[in-house]
Amino acid sequence: MRKKIVAGNWKMNLSIADGVTLVNTIISTLPSLPQEAHVILCCPFTHLDRVSTSIRETSHAQLHAGAQNCHDKASGAFTGEVSIEMLKEVGVDAVIIGHSERRHYFNEDHDFLKRKTDALVAADMHVLFCCGEPLAVRERNGQNDYVANQLTESLFHLNAQQMKACITIAYEPIWAIGTGVTASTEQAQEMHAHIRSLLSATFGNEVAQEISILYGGSCNAANAAELFACQDVDGGLIGGAALKAESFLPIIEAMC
Ligand code: PGA
Repeated sequence: MRKKIVAGNWKMNLSIADGVTLVNTIISTLPSLPQEAHVILCCPFTHLDRVSTSIRETSHAQLHAGAQNCHDKASGAFTGEVSIEMLKEVGVDAVIIGHSERRHYFNEDHDFLKRKTDALVAADMHVLFCCGEPLAVRERNGQNDYVANQLTESLFHLNAQQMKACITIAYEPIWAIGTGVTASTEQAQEMHAHIRSLLSATFGNEVAQEISILYGGSCNAANAAELFACQDVDGGLIGGAALKAESFLPIIEAMC
């Protein structure tokens, strides 16, 4: 059975103190999760040690600390960057790669994302690989090819075993991120089914059925349940609504 996942992407928000309060509130009020369900809190680098310590103290095996970025090299003269081993040292289990904000503001291209993906897979880390089209592409109905290209360029060189072991895909249409405009359930399901058919064509149906595909983009307590009820939507990558326990917990409940 494929995993259900709700991941919070805190982006560059919350003080360390507020982040620790949030994770402690989530820990103390987390509903009991079905065996296949996981919650990942993707925090700023400065928060990860404290957040993962809080998580480890509860021995909650289905709650994880995640990072929002990493570098592909193990060490060296890369001012401002953080390596995968450094993330592992502070208890990180998962890393977001290919978020549209990193592609756009930091010019991360297909090749860099491919190298990061390879480094993460080699380190046996869980990769939350983001894809999704801008509004102009959606308006000319080019979203399927656009997303297929993102996946082909940076992800589909992996083998089936690596895909199964390490990869979760997050479909995040750029026009829905932080805008309050959510993809309709039809739009989400259509794209998720498209992604699963690409997975099936590349890695076989058995692998395609095991890879979780999350939806992200203005997913909130009011719309999570209907999005997660779609056949190929296996959870969500949540930005704004992940910053408060009262908006994040109902999304977790919608997955259960
Ligand atoms: P949002 O962000 O939920 O605030 O739209 C999602 C994301 O960027 O991961």
